[in-house]
Amino acid sequence: MNRQITLAARPTGFPKESDFRLIESAIPTPGPGEVLVRTLYLSVDPYMRGRMNDAKSYAAPVQIGEVMVGGTIGLVEQSNDPNFRIGDIVAANTGWQDYAVAKGKDLRRLDPNLAPVTTALGVLGHIGLTAYFGLIDICDPKPGETVVVSGAAGAVGSAAGQIAKILGCRVVGIAGTDAKIDYLVNELGFEAAFNYKTIPDYRAKIREFCPNGVDVYFDNVGGPISDAVMFNLAVHARVSVSGQISQYNVEKPEMGPRLTSLLVVYRAKVQGFLVTDYAPHFGEGLRELAAWFREGKLKYEETIEEGLENAPRAFIGMLQGKNLGKQLVRVSGV
Ligand SMILES: NC(=O)c1ccc[n+]([C@@H]2O[C@H](COP(=O)([O-])OP(=O)(O)OC[C@H]3O[C@@H](n4cnc5c(N)ncnc54)[C@H](OP(=O)(O)O)[C@@H]3O)[C@@H](O)[C@H]2O)c1
Repeated sequence: MNRQITLAARPTGFPKESDFRLIESAIPTPGPGEVLVRTLYLSVDPYMRGRMNDAKSYAAPVQIGEVMVGGTIGLVEQSNDPNFRIGDIVAANTGWQDYAVAKGKDLRRLDPNLAPVTTALGVLGHIGLTAYFGLIDICDPKPGETVVVSGAAGAVGSAAGQIAKILGCRVVGIAGTDAKIDYLVNELGFEAAFNYKTIPDYRAKIREFCPNGVDVYFDNVGGPISDAVMFNLAVHARVSVSGQISQYNVEKPEMGPRLTSLLVVYRAKVQGFLVTDYAPHFGEGLRELAAWFREGKLKYEETIEEGLENAPRAFIGMLQGKNLGKQLVRVSGV
């Protein structure tokens, strides 16, 4: 049987495990040109929270009763595409289920000898690319500049901070546990970091760590953390808005200070982006990320939940900050 996790209810506020339902269906049969893939790993990501809402966004919502969407690593078990053989390991987008059929053009074959295959859902996949293009293309950081990263111990944030270090910047991270702060400073070599859950005056802490102002801000979280960074910008600062996770579960939009006049004071640029905007340049981004990875300059952590049935728990835990680095679910073994 094919176990599938579907959307059972649209959450208000924070999602609950009961918003998902595990169902069973027959294992699908691949048609002409198609491939049957068994899921090995599943990625759970913040954007999935948006797909659970019935609201207009950059992608269509998941409908009630539909299988949750998501990036996967899978093993080819049957193939009607001459480009894929049984036993190939592929990166796919087949969602929260044990098995799926996919077209060959939607799969990327992975070589387990080059890097652990899970990195294709992380630092050598959409996560690394988000950090790479969001930081370099939007912010153009220069050696010696001060870069602040929020959500810094998560998948995107830890990659963005390390890329800033590779480019010769001073990096300050913001994250939600003391263990994450220790990781950022002592494992990844950030110049400073603070725990926003125990240090209430974000604005003063950022001023202390960035006495000459923040030249570049890579924003994963929004809300009061980002307000505090904006008050500490340097002249000609660049802000890359990757995500606003602090707002994904709020039921009513939060009121905040009106910050636009600060953009005049600091002559600052703020730009949002989607990693998919850069699809024509993914090859070039992956080549550079892979080179840094091979040289040992780009490290990564993974938090792995066992079992497809625990994907909702892993997803909710990630939204609560239980993950260090990339949150994955191991669905089956090779
Ligand atoms: N623009 C794009 O194309 C693109 C692509 C991928 C991801 N993203 C965005 O990048 C961001 C990070 O994604 P990710 O996949 O790397 O996830 P992640 O950072 O690995 O996991 C989410 C983290 O968010 C933090 N968090 C949760 N609630 C928070 C709050 N209220 N305030 C501050 N931090 C909070 C938690 O860490 P703490 O312990 O630090 O709280 C949690 O570990 C998200 O905003 C996501 O939407 C954007």
